[in-house]
This record gives sequence, C-alpha cells and structure tokens, in this order.
Amino acid sequence: MPEPLQVDRGLEHVVVGSSGITLVAGETGGLVYRGFSIDALIGKASYEGVVHLLLQGDPPSPSELAGLRADLARRRAIAPALAHLVPALPPKVPPLDGLRTLLSAAGNGRATYPPTLDQGYDLIAQAPTLLAQLVRHQAGQAPVPPRPELGHAANFLYMLRGTPPEERQARALEDYFILLADHGMNASTFALRTVLSTQADLLSGVVAALAALKGPLHGGAPAKVSDMLDAVGDPAAAEAWVRAALGRRERLMGFGHRAYKTEDPRAVLLRQIAERVADPDRLALALAVERAALAALRAAKPGQRLFTNVEFYGAVVLEGCGLPRSLFTPAFALARTVGWTAHALEQAADNRLIRPDIHYTGAPAGREWPAGVA
Ligand code: ACO
Repeated sequence: MPEPLQVDRGLEHVVVGSSGITLVAGETGGLVYRGFSIDALIGKASYEGVVHLLLQGDPPSPSELAGLRADLARRRAIAPALAHLVPALPPKVPPLDGLRTLLSAAGNGRATYPPTLDQGYDLIAQAPTLLAQLVRHQAGQAPVPPRPELGHAANFLYMLRGTPPEERQARALEDYFILLADHGMNASTFALRTVLSTQADLLSGVVAALAALKGPLHGGAPAKVSDMLDAVGDPAAAEAWVRAALGRRERLMGFGHRAYKTEDPRAVLLRQIAERVADPDRLALALAVERAALAALRAAKPGQRLFTNVEFYGAVVLEGCGLPRSLFTPAFALARTVGWTAHALEQAADNRLIRPDIHYTGAPAGREWPAGVA
C-alpha cells in the first residue's frame, strides 16, 4: 500500500536540510547568529563584525576586523562597465528591480560555482554602491564615490546624499543592517539555496532571492507599513482604521510571521532603535497603530497568535534614517547580502539538488489531440 499523500502547502512543516548559521526560535521569540543572541550584538557589534561572524563562524579579532573593514572599503568601487549600465536602465525602474538587474551583470564572467568568500565580499561591498548610484541617477544627480574611512552603513548614507550622515542615523541603520543580516530558511534564502543547489553561481542565487524578497508577504511590507501609518494619520483614529481594514479582509502589514508565534525579537529591538531615531509624533502614531492592531487581530483571528514583526518598526526606523519608501526593501536586501552569502557557501559545501514534489490534480492521462489542429 502506498503511504497516504501528505500535501504541506507553504512547506510549513518540511525541514529541507541543516544549517549552522542562524537559529530562529519561533515559539520563544529568539534569534541567534552562530551562538550570539541578537540582543548580545546590538550596541556592541558593528555590521562588519557581524559579516565576519556569519561568514567565518566567530567574531573577528581586532586586527581581523580592521582588515575586513579595509577590504570591504576597497571593494566598494564598481567597474566602469557596470557603472555605464546604471543610466541605461529605464528611468522609472523601481530601485529594487534596478538592483536586481545590475547584480545580474555584476559577475562579468566571474560568477562561477562553487561560490567563494571573495565573491561574497564583492557582493556585500558593491550592492550599496550600485543602489546609491542608481538612486542618484534617477534624481538627476552625479554619483558620489565611496569614502573608505566610513563604516558600511554610514558610507551608504553618504553615497546617497553626498554629505556625511548624522551619527544617530548611521548607528540606527547599522543596527537595522545587523538585525536583518540573516533569518534562517525564509522565502528569499530558500529561493537562493534552490538556485545554488543546481550548481548555479552566487549572483544568480541572489537575483532569485531579490525576486522573492519583493513581495509584501516577505520583504515588500515596510513601505506599506508607512502607507498604513499615513492613512491612519492620527493616533486617535488607529482603532477604527485597523478594524475597518480587517473588516475588508485586508492583511495588516508588519504583523504576523510564519516562524514567530510570539513577538518577533527584531521588532522589540527595532522599537527601541526607533525611540532614538524616529520623529516623536511618528513614533507615537506607530505605537498607537501597533496597540490597536494587536487588539483587533486578537479579536478577529483568535486562534492565530499574530504579533508585531520586523517590518513594522523596520519601516519606522528607516523613515527616521531619512530613507524614502522606495528604498525600504532594497535596504533590507543590502543587510541580507551577508546572510545570502553564508547560505550559498553552506549549501555548496554539502550540496544536493533541492527538488520537491507536487501533487497532480489535472486531467487523467489518455486524452487525444483533436484532428485537424496542428
Ligand atoms: N493581518 C491580518 N490577518 C493575518 C495577518 C495579518 N498581518 N497575518 C496572518 N493573518 C491571518 C490570515 O488571514 C489567516 O487567517 P485565516 O486562517 O482566517 O484565513 C491566518 O492569519 C494565517 O495566515 P497565513 O497566511 O496562513 O500565515 P502565514 O504563516 O503563511 O503568514 C505572513 C505569514 C505571510 C507574514 C502573514 O502573517 C502576513 O501576510 N503578514 C502581513 C505581511 C507582512 O507583514 N509581511 C512581512 C513578513 S516578515 C518578513 O518576511 C521579513
């Protein structure tokens, strides 16, 4: 007798492999990078330190950190052939789509399998430069060359604006980058690992990951969080607004998570970061919307355990850093380049083709092609 067919839509209970990179503790609300809880990193580690941790397994020594900072800074400049592609893109291409296209070409014949650390460092260092050049070109502004003495996050803000960022904003963006650096087998990482499992190269995997990140059920939510805050407008209107949205069967952006059945630990830290960087009125509005949303979700979906996710205060923090909404998902992508690299290296180190099955529900076999039709 064949086993009864088990269909798991969304692969919720399917474990496709093992990973030593990041522990997502969904029931307790924990997130751990190579043994370090994210609470133990914020306020202590730099983004570059976390890059070393995720890619090499341990925190860097002071000299390793200095070396990595200098190495990443050296890699920031992009090849002239790639820079020439920026003005060739259609003028209204959204920055996330533009970044995806530019990264497709960034390998320039050197995007080979298996992926290497060297390719990963190029990706991490150059993605911010590509994005900044694209955004400035779309605004009719000349590119701003990277500044090697600035850290990863501060330099990105500098390349966007042409002036050194406020320390408060640079620190908040760096902490955002750390918190978004990796997150287990999320949809974009799964897409990347599937591509890598065919023995395709790192950049091909990243392009697939960017495509998966775009949708609002994954990384496309934060701009919609800002839209929601605008639509609510006043803390006093929050309760009625969220109830009406749920009445229209809409999803409240920034709430609910496949893995977390309690508050997303990144949301806890991002709320604290928002207190330092966000406009006080905007933060008060966000707090009121969060309170109203959690109460309304508890009432409308009593069995579902829906809580605030990373995107809600992620949006408030990115607003506070002065980024426009069109850059929210691209900023997420910049943070995640390190996680995607770590997963590509791990996948290639012990590869097997990822190829799940699908249950066929179409017409039974045996149909005949109509006569007289080619
Ligand atoms: N608002 C309203 N209802 C919700 C929400 C929400 N934000 N999230 C889940 N639900 C409801 C669904 O309608 C569904 O209810 P039903 O069973 O009565 O139809 C139930 O909760 C379960 O939803 P699923 O979609 O099956 O849960 P899943 O684990 O697949 O969803 C997801 C996770 C996609 C993140 C979901 O919570 C959602 O759509 N959230 C809003 C979008 C968002 O914030 N995306 C960013 C996610 S974080 C990240 O990827 C970085």
